[in-house]
Amino acid sequence: DQIEKGGYDHFMLKEIHEQPKAVIDTYRGRMLADKGMVRMSGIDNHMNKFLNADRIIIVACGTSWHAGLVGEYLIEDMARIPVEVEYASEFRYRNPIITSNDVVIAISQSGETADTLAAIKLAKSKGAFVFGICNVVGSSIARETHAGAYTHAGPEIGVASTKAFTTQITVLTLISLKLASKKGTLSKSALRMYLQKMQLIPNKIEELLKIDDKVKEIAAVYKDAPNCLYLGRGFNFPVALEGALKLKEISYIHAEGYPAAEMKHGPIALIDENMPIFVIATNKGHYEKVVSNIQEIKSRAGKIIAIVTEGDTTVKEIADHVIEIPETEEALTPLLTTIPFQLLSYHIAVMLNKNVDQPRNLAKSVTVE
Ligand code: G6P
Repeated sequence: DQIEKGGYDHFMLKEIHEQPKAVIDTYRGRMLADKGMVRMSGIDNHMNKFLNADRIIIVACGTSWHAGLVGEYLIEDMARIPVEVEYASEFRYRNPIITSNDVVIAISQSGETADTLAAIKLAKSKGAFVFGICNVVGSSIARETHAGAYTHAGPEIGVASTKAFTTQITVLTLISLKLASKKGTLSKSALRMYLQKMQLIPNKIEELLKIDDKVKEIAAVYKDAPNCLYLGRGFNFPVALEGALKLKEISYIHAEGYPAAEMKHGPIALIDENMPIFVIATNKGHYEKVVSNIQEIKSRAGKIIAIVTEGDTTVKEIADHVIEIPETEEALTPLLTTIPFQLLSYHIAVMLNKNVDQPRNLAKSVTVE
């Protein structure tokens, strides 16, 4: 067991630390940064399906659904193709409108999730083209889809998904860039710039993993909180959802993720001096608006833990704690902002003596309804 954990105390921590390599393994051979090209056979061989699609419907569950939400923001922003993201369990039972002009993207780490598999079968029966993003090679979902792309994250043992999430986002980013460059909604020079910045991501994740001690200090301060709120906007709204999910999965602390601007429509009522609020406030994502959300939290005595871009000064003055992430393009920030949240949940769960790798009531792969 110790050998399998590679010297780490838990699989989850090992898998968090594997992310720089997992992201490289995922884009290797697909991202030709010097040529300014993305090559993905599953997309290239069916390009017309994607380019002529009325819309793309992403179906998934859990963490994979959060990655799908990042995918929606990426694909619509870059490639200007309408995208809808659906919980597979809702999609399959709500008599959805699906036609042969739709492309369905199913995302699943295990490739075995029953609801996602059933959603795929439904979409196929209506004539849609179904593309899979899976981690497990040869899994049921990989076999059931018309085409797909593997994430190449390597085996993920910890029930709380970490490297599967970042590698799913990596694949979705490549798909967005590929579709955008084919459609002409992204210039050649912009594509080249994105690819160069993508190549720097693994090193930036590596840098972020070094702030572990700081995250641990923050974990020690908030580990006994009964409730936590996670806020983000734009590309980082799904990261807020995923941050909250990670915390509740392994520490059993109630946590909610919210779009920062929605705070005023409900969660603001919960804020008092006992409420820790984790806010993603990177410098390009509607920064001023998030800063004013942070001020609203401050004036209600909430505790603010902010994720900011390196060198930030404004948020630093207001927040109780800040965690800096290295600079990158806004669309690529989810690959970085998610890392401190993973570490934070991990440390809180360890401090609370919870079973990090096998939390109660949860399964790694849900093959029943
Ligand atoms: C379970 C796991 C989650 C995972 C979800 C979807 O709930 O505990 O970590 O995100 O299933 O799994 P999939 O394998 O389809 O990505």
